[in-house]
Amino acid sequence: MNEKKIIINIFKKKIVELKKHNDNYFNQDNPIISDANYDELKKNIFALETKYSFLKELNLTNNLVGAKITNKFKKIKHLSPMLSLSNAFNIEDMKDFSKKINNFLSFKNKDIELFCEPKIDGISASLIYQKGILVKGLSRGDGKIGEDILSNLKTISLIPKIIKGDKIPDILEIRCEIYIGKKDFLTLKDKFANPRNAAGGSLRQKNSKDTAKIPLKYFAYGFGTVNPMIFKTQSEFLKKISQWDFCTNPLSKIIKNLDEVEIEHKKIDLKRSSLNYDIDGLVIKVNDISLQKRLGNTSNSPRWAVAYKFSAEKAVTKVKDIIIQVGRTGAITPVAKVEPVTVGGVVVSNATLHNEDEIERKDIRIGDTINIQRAGDVIPQVVSVDKSKRDKKSKKFIFPKRCLCGAETKKEFSKNTNKEDAVRRCLKGYECRFTAKEKLKHLVSKEALNIDGLGKKVIEQFWDLNLIKEPSNIFDLDYEKIKELEGWGELSINNLKKAIKKSQTIPLDKFIYSIGIRHIGQENAKILASFFSSIEEFSKLFDLKKRKKILINLFDLDGIGETQTQSIENFFLNHTNVRIIKDLINKLNIRSYAVQSSGGKFSNKKLMFTGGFKNMSRSEAKEITENNGGKVMGSISKNLDYLVVGDSKPTKSKIEQAKKLNIKIILEKDWNKILNS
Ligand code: IVH
Repeated sequence: MNEKKIIINIFKKKIVELKKHNDNYFNQDNPIISDANYDELKKNIFALETKYSFLKELNLTNNLVGAKITNKFKKIKHLSPMLSLSNAFNIEDMKDFSKKINNFLSFKNKDIELFCEPKIDGISASLIYQKGILVKGLSRGDGKIGEDILSNLKTISLIPKIIKGDKIPDILEIRCEIYIGKKDFLTLKDKFANPRNAAGGSLRQKNSKDTAKIPLKYFAYGFGTVNPMIFKTQSEFLKKISQWDFCTNPLSKIIKNLDEVEIEHKKIDLKRSSLNYDIDGLVIKVNDISLQKRLGNTSNSPRWAVAYKFSAEKAVTKVKDIIIQVGRTGAITPVAKVEPVTVGGVVVSNATLHNEDEIERKDIRIGDTINIQRAGDVIPQVVSVDKSKRDKKSKKFIFPKRCLCGAETKKEFSKNTNKEDAVRRCLKGYECRFTAKEKLKHLVSKEALNIDGLGKKVIEQFWDLNLIKEPSNIFDLDYEKIKELEGWGELSINNLKKAIKKSQTIPLDKFIYSIGIRHIGQENAKILASFFSSIEEFSKLFDLKKRKKILINLFDLDGIGETQTQSIENFFLNHTNVRIIKDLINKLNIRSYAVQSSGGKFSNKKLMFTGGFKNMSRSEAKEITENNGGKVMGSISKNLDYLVVGDSKPTKSKIEQAKKLNIKIILEKDWNKILNS
């Protein structure tokens, strides 16, 4: 190779590297190098271009984003958390939503008044007004803590800086979606993949002058903390803030029942392409705010709202290969590697094939022409195979019976459905290196240890370099070795050290969620944490005899059934799992689980419910008890303060047991009295 070719190669490599970092920053929102290292790389590229004029002719630097990578935004806590929404994809899912809210509120299939809004596909932000003056502007961040982007938000002229009007609450947290109009995006097309990324990138500019150059717009759709609370319904809230000059979406409206939801869904889907902003569905909300309050939230999303997505965008492509992926629970998922194709503005090169049965049913083969669809952010799915285009010599795909680690895989029997699972699994847990790597990715994820800077890609890299093979290794990293790696400078290493140190203090519920027991998600982890209270109690699961006893009691907890207890048992029967979790515990400071609000009417009291209430579902009664400082138990023990007996079908044996242990037995009306005392 001559010298010119070598220089061109070096130059191209650096540009690829820079683009990767731009993608991490702008598209993934997950920068992995420091400001300084990024600047250095960029400087290097431009210096080379200046020195060698033949590089200029390649025209490779025109589209490089001018923004600086930064993680220097101040972090600020949201007054109320910014949650996400659960999704509905069809009328059945919507019926399910309606049934769930009816059950929770103990209504008998009532048509609860709903409010329907387009779901804007932009970037969410929170605006905090004190006595009508905009004082804080935050990005969503992890939902609890956002980044201070006030100066950038202030550049959006349509956002009121001072609210002019009457009866403005002292504190008003407005939630909105920032977007770039489709027409305005045309001028930015070369720099960003889609309008959403462009809005995100522009909002995160360090210099607000750069944000001001981009014509950002917004729609306000909700509120966080409002004090005093003056709104009674979502429709009234939007009307009021629109009078205060906030931009609200004109297509929003009150909806009476599910039939009307369906009509609206079709109507707006048809209008979608003519709108000047991207939408990806409708948001259906319970209109009455007092009902919203009663319904409350699960860990991540409100029970009173749902995103009713538009049907997925489709495209035709070809299967290049079918590979196997192993998930953190050992699930073996076949994935089709496809010829890259654009679906709804995103280039797709993988499509999930779900499981063995799905491949069999659709008879998907390597070389096939397929129709794929992408709904929301999920991995695209294969809709159908065009068999007329199939090569006659193509062979049926034989699903491997072994995991990538070599172990045999199994389809378990589900006691829930009384059927064999469709999914094949490797049951080796941490003993399988493929499962272990995925478990590590789960462990460091946002909802678990939440280690900034240790994302999926870094786990992959550190795994390959033998830096992290099991959870405890995270806390004994060889930073000297990391220092030698491309993209790691002093600043990013210091940030990583800090994030790891911070993650070492963790509440019990997060710890239980983090270790990745199958069927134990965030909600179940909370139930278990409230049962065990401390890591010392939880650690009794390591002991076979104690474990048997505990599992019997667990079975009684609301939300924990046979599937969950069986899964906990399986997890702890594996000696490698036990050793690894013990090692991890040694590295952590696990805080005992405290019931969130103390000082409530049931503060420090342990209650158990049996039988249904008249006007309230068990779930709502449980939530109210917990919000008032009480702890809801699943089984009777001498530590229980009250057994609350509902009118409908209470369990006699529980009442007998409680009598024997001298536990106070109260009725629904007594529970209400304490609550209202
Ligand atoms: S209501 C508790 N309404 O969608 C969350 N969200 O997936 C209540 N979004 O973070 C959200 N348009 O950024 C709501 N009309 C709308 C929305 C909307 C867009 C975004 C928002 C939210 C995300 C949830």
